[in-house]
Amino acid sequence: MRKIFVTALIIALTLSSCAFADVKIGSCIYRFSDAFMLRFRNAMTAESVNEKAEIIIADSLNDQNTQDAQVDDFINSGVNVLIINPVDRMQSQSIIDKAKSANIPVVFINREPTAEMLATYDRAYYVGAKPEESGTEAGELIANYFKSHPEADKNKDGKIQFVMLRGENGHQDMIARSKYSVEAIKDAGFEPVEIAGAIANWDKLQAMTIMNAFIMSLGAENIEAVIANNDEMALGAVEALKANDYNKGNAEMYIPVVGVDANASALDAMDRGEMLGTVLNDADGQGTAAVKLAVALANGKDVSGQVVDGKYIWVPYQKVTRGEK
Ligand code: GAL
Ligand code: CA
Repeated sequence: MRKIFVTALIIALTLSSCAFADVKIGSCIYRFSDAFMLRFRNAMTAESVNEKAEIIIADSLNDQNTQDAQVDDFINSGVNVLIINPVDRMQSQSIIDKAKSANIPVVFINREPTAEMLATYDRAYYVGAKPEESGTEAGELIANYFKSHPEADKNKDGKIQFVMLRGENGHQDMIARSKYSVEAIKDAGFEPVEIAGAIANWDKLQAMTIMNAFIMSLGAENIEAVIANNDEMALGAVEALKANDYNKGNAEMYIPVVGVDANASALDAMDRGEMLGTVLNDADGQGTAAVKLAVALANGKDVSGQVVDGKYIWVPYQKVTRGEK
């Protein structure tokens, strides 16, 4: 009897919590195994609880076809709004078209559709961070280090010989971080020289393998800085350097490495003196803003005061260091 009662109570509670959730959000993340997107997911889940909204988050497994099918399923199940982190941002149009025919709003995150695509639907939005900011700030970290450490110019040629580890091809963050980090170094009065560079797809293991190959071919003593488009790749580079006795505490054998994101593992590496710095990619700020916007849109609220250019919410980046090394 008691057992039946408890079961009935649980069912009643489950039903009521669904029934009372005013807004149902369907969300897709390009790949759950991405360390930064884990922070993003946690922020969205927490904000959904605050907003008393129901959120279902699907792992698109780095496959655009899988994601398109997930969007269809969400629409068929009657979600009120979508939050989408595209696998391939250049293929966002089909998702916008699906949302438009279902007459529900869609908020894109982290991977920016083109302005032309967003313009095709008045209820399509983007929440993210301006990638050029993160590039500039990462470059400034390197420039500031060389200002306070002239000995970092190991071959004394007045130039900064660096290697670059790039994120996924075509990603707006990969393009702008690669470009603006170098621009910032130039703006600070240095001459940057890219002696090697490769795409490591935001991935630590790929970056470690590539960095090992660079060390083998160039010699670690000839590398004066490592610029990585994100923390995971910076940490992969750090692993490769440590395997060659660099960045283990001996000041003579140190190469400044910078990343972007400010993931916990990178902050730990900075505390250990293995990594110079990073740029905070504010997952909490972006995840919270995306859910707030989605809920407001689903409730038919006027969001014109919350967005810029009718479409965007930009969350700022912030440099992170551990003081003077
Ligand atoms: C970037 C982030 C990377 C990776 C990527 C995924 O903003 O810095 O670490 O998560 O997004 O799209
Ligand atoms: Ca030099």
